[in-house]
Amino acid sequence: MDVSSAYEAAREAADFLATRADAPRICAVLGSGLGAFADTLHEPVRISYSEIPHFSGVKVVGHAGELVVGRIGKDGPRIAALSGRVHYYEGHSPDEVVHAVRTMRLWGCAGLLITNAAGGINTSFATGGLMRITDHINLTGRNPLFGLNDPRFGVRFPDMSHAYDTALGALFEQVARDTKIDLKSGVYVGVTGPSYETPAEIRMFARGGADAVGMSTVMEVIAARHVGLRVVGVSCITNPAAGLSAELLDHADVKAAATKARSKFLRLVSGGLIAMDAQLAQDATGADE
Ligand code: HPA
Repeated sequence: MDVSSAYEAAREAADFLATRADAPRICAVLGSGLGAFADTLHEPVRISYSEIPHFSGVKVVGHAGELVVGRIGKDGPRIAALSGRVHYYEGHSPDEVVHAVRTMRLWGCAGLLITNAAGGINTSFATGGLMRITDHINLTGRNPLFGLNDPRFGVRFPDMSHAYDTALGALFEQVARDTKIDLKSGVYVGVTGPSYETPAEIRMFARGGADAVGMSTVMEVIAARHVGLRVVGVSCITNPAAGLSAELLDHADVKAAATKARSKFLRLVSGGLIAMDAQLAQDATGADE
């Protein structure tokens, strides 16, 4: 994709979605093993990625590859859940990796919840636990904004001081307290994969201030901030990172651990999104006054 076509591609996809459903205020990207949230939505409108312009190519086994628009609970807010994401390690370009996030913004979303499975670097993190992402370190060696800037997306040099929204994140912290979920918080380091890290790399990341490591999220968040989406991130800690346990790393175990965390994850995400939607609605009203 060149610069104008990245915008046109997102515009085309957003215009297509507008023919199928009104844009909700929030979209959620569901990570490995966390797709079950989409199945809990009421009055679902399901749109296969194969129908949406430029959304094809989600190849990871175990990822459904559909957009589900529906309500949280019977009378709750409508949200869009992206079940299945494009990973850089599949050989896609950064533009392709962030196409869905840009599309959500052009369609009309204001907030993004981004979730993922991650290895725990912080040794106080238990497998199957949840971590709110407070910041990230982009070690992919790529940036989705590289090349000519398209001002229709955003500014040339977007600020990343508050990439993860503190006020919206606090709403998830509150839900965690109210529902007795031990929600940790920390820094996510994004790498390309697909090989897992070496123990030496994990030691280096730990010294650099990282709490969890994964193969997604950072490019999507950079693009999300560029287009003005407000972001909350949640990692499911599926394994101790390389060298921190005697176990070898295996994708099947990662998915199984994420699946096991399902009910806690659903509680946090459902409650958090309801609060986030109300806050975004209030902020939008304030902005109009
Ligand atoms: N490393 C990188 N990505 C991951 C891991 C990990 O240990 N666990 C889940 N995704």
